[in-house]
Amino acid sequence: MKKEIYFTQTEWRRDDEVVTHYIRKRQSIYADQYHKGIIPEAELLEIITNATWAPTHKMTEPWRFVVLTDSQLVKYGTYMCSYYRNLYEDIPDAEKKLAKYNYLKDYPLKAACIIAIIFVKSTRVNIPEWEELAAVSCAVQNMAISATSFKIASYWATGGSAIDYVKTLGLAENEQSLGLFFMGYTSDSTVPVQKKRTAIDQKVTWRS
Ligand SMILES: Cc1cc2nc3c(=O)[nH]c(=O)nc-3n(C[C@H](O)[C@H](O)[C@H](O)COP(=O)(O)O)c2cc1C
Repeated sequence: MKKEIYFTQTEWRRDDEVVTHYIRKRQSIYADQYHKGIIPEAELLEIITNATWAPTHKMTEPWRFVVLTDSQLVKYGTYMCSYYRNLYEDIPDAEKKLAKYNYLKDYPLKAACIIAIIFVKSTRVNIPEWEELAAVSCAVQNMAISATSFKIASYWATGGSAIDYVKTLGLAENEQSLGLFFMGYTSDSTVPVQKKRTAIDQKVTWRS
């Protein structure tokens, strides 16, 4: 079968190579490693649109996203300081206490953008909840891979503050917080070593 050819800035690549490249290049990179930058609107729209191309059983499209930038990142920093105040309140050394406080306050500001991930349970069809959660996970993975292709680092945060903060954005009865998807820019030198994967012979059995 004839392979489609894609042109990249530096070389020609077959489409299967492009897909494998970005799937394996994606990694969770945390905001500590971001430097400030603004995601061009067209790229952000592409990333979010690609999220909506995830497969969904019965086409429930069980998601909603809230894009947080600028003052909303400041707001989340303030929220983190309050949420994790037990992490610094009892530190006796004033300098260390302030450093921890500032770390929390400034952490979200390193992101170019944070997307709140909201699971919207279908009221139209009755399918198992796990199927809809699986669909949202597919959508988030689409975002991560798309972001990677734009040289934007990302990770999905589901810690206490991320989950609870999304709840403050106003959720309907059939909605549930699935945390925050961070995106930002890194310099090549700060990108962490990729985590290893277990060889597939330990994860797969073959039957024929
Ligand atoms: C559903 C989900 C939730 C995650 N939540 C967090 C999180 O709260 N904090 C965090 O540091 N990483 C989180 N991660 C990222 C994982 O730690 C990361 O995917 C894993 O270590 C593999 O590394 P990689 O993404 O670089 O391949 C989450 C990943 C997934 C899929």
